[in-house]
Amino acid sequence: MDWGMKNRLSRILQPESGRTVMLAVDHGYFLGPTSGLEKPGETIAPLLPYADSLMLTRGVLRNCVPPETKTPIVLRISGGTSILKDLSGEGLTVSMDDAVRLNVSAITLSIFVGADGERETLLSLAEAVDWGETYGFPVLAVTAVGKDMVRDARYLGLACRIAAELGAHMVKTYFCDGFENIVRDTPVPLVVAGGKKVPEKDALQMAWNAINAGARGVDMGRNIFQSDCPSGMIQAVRGVVHNNMAVKEAFQLYRDIKG
Ligand code: 5RP
Repeated sequence: MDWGMKNRLSRILQPESGRTVMLAVDHGYFLGPTSGLEKPGETIAPLLPYADSLMLTRGVLRNCVPPETKTPIVLRISGGTSILKDLSGEGLTVSMDDAVRLNVSAITLSIFVGADGERETLLSLAEAVDWGETYGFPVLAVTAVGKDMVRDARYLGLACRIAAELGAHMVKTYFCDGFENIVRDTPVPLVVAGGKKVPEKDALQMAWNAINAGARGVDMGRNIFQSDCPSGMIQAVRGVVHNNMAVKEAFQLYRDIKG
């Protein structure tokens, strides 16, 4: 791995803890104006100091994030589908030239293992890895789950391993029972998505379970920006991820900040 790749990876996985709290705000690329992200700039601004990186599309980056920001950017480069039709047929939506121009720290795309778009999205991953290796950009593969797939360790483990075999530098997946087996079988760092909004304490418990099963962090969206106190929630998640806080302690931090 060359210096540029290592440098960019170290902006995401914090060298002090080896872990990361990524803030995912890319939902609009297939969901449109997601609840909590109607005005992305207003949602993102107060959370930026607490996010190790921001995962989003180039449209939101250019229009809603100040160019002075110091927060590393993880740019979504896949899309082309909407919630109104089959999601699995994503293609690449951003050129590497534009990723370079936007000065991003990593690129990310979804793979749909087991769905109609399996072949196209896996080949897109391989293409993105070629770009990434050429220009020194880490690639985060997102294991999107087709509607007929079960989010269990067998399926997610298969998808994560394939992503790593195709050269992804990090993989984002969902937490599930047996997550430690997915960690064992995936030779690159894993981060977990938050999933649908659940009560704050449950989301913190999920983050704690994932970290303790070997995840290197979270790439969380709705459980932060749809919280009744997004700033308190992201700081509590940081406590779990970076400071090994117990769930009770982290939940109390969220409540204290919420006031
Ligand atoms: C969609 C994504 C989202 O960024 C991901 O689902 C994370 O957000 P959340 O924590 O809300 O699930 O990658 O494919």
